[in-house]
Amino acid sequence: MAFTRLQIAFIGVVCFLAIKSSAQNAAIWIAPDKAKSLVNPIKASDYDYSIEEGKYQYTSNCASCHGELGLGDGEKAKKFNPPPIDFTSKRFQSQTDGELFWKINEGRGKMPKYKNEFSEDDIWFMVNYIRTLTKK
Ligand code: HEC
Repeated sequence: MAFTRLQIAFIGVVCFLAIKSSAQNAAIWIAPDKAKSLVNPIKASDYDYSIEEGKYQYTSNCASCHGELGLGDGEKAKKFNPPPIDFTSKRFQSQTDGELFWKINEGRGKMPKYKNEFSEDDIWFMVNYIRTLTKK
């Protein structure tokens, strides 16, 4: 029995949707272009308090998944597949402050959305702290 065009089109659509959803789960997380150019209003260098404050917020709220040192090895993240990205990696650190700020605000999947949990300043403080988590 030959497939009709309609059947072939249907199979095509089903395959497309299946591939698309699996690719989305595994895909690296890319912030939209508008996020790239967001300017961090808090300069870590002339405002060290921001790093201390960011460290405090990060350790209390984020380390359970991202790990004390940002390696993606927090207690809760052991169940996640894939685990959160290593914050000390080049691929992570090559993003702009704006992209990190946007991702912390918006969340995705297991990563909570923090827009309504923290002030914008607190989120920038955490961005500044996360910047200090590079490979030593
Ligand atoms: C319940 C676990 C959990 C908690 C708590 C959590 N995160 Fe995440 N976070 C994740 C996961 C999982 C991802 C990867 C999400 C993805 O790629 O879909 C992620 C991704 C991120 C990213 C983006 C990484 C990239 O791909 O560029 C940033 C930045 C981030 N988290 C910061 C934070 C900060 C700051 C906090 C605390 C305020 C926090 N996270 C709390 C689980 C968590």
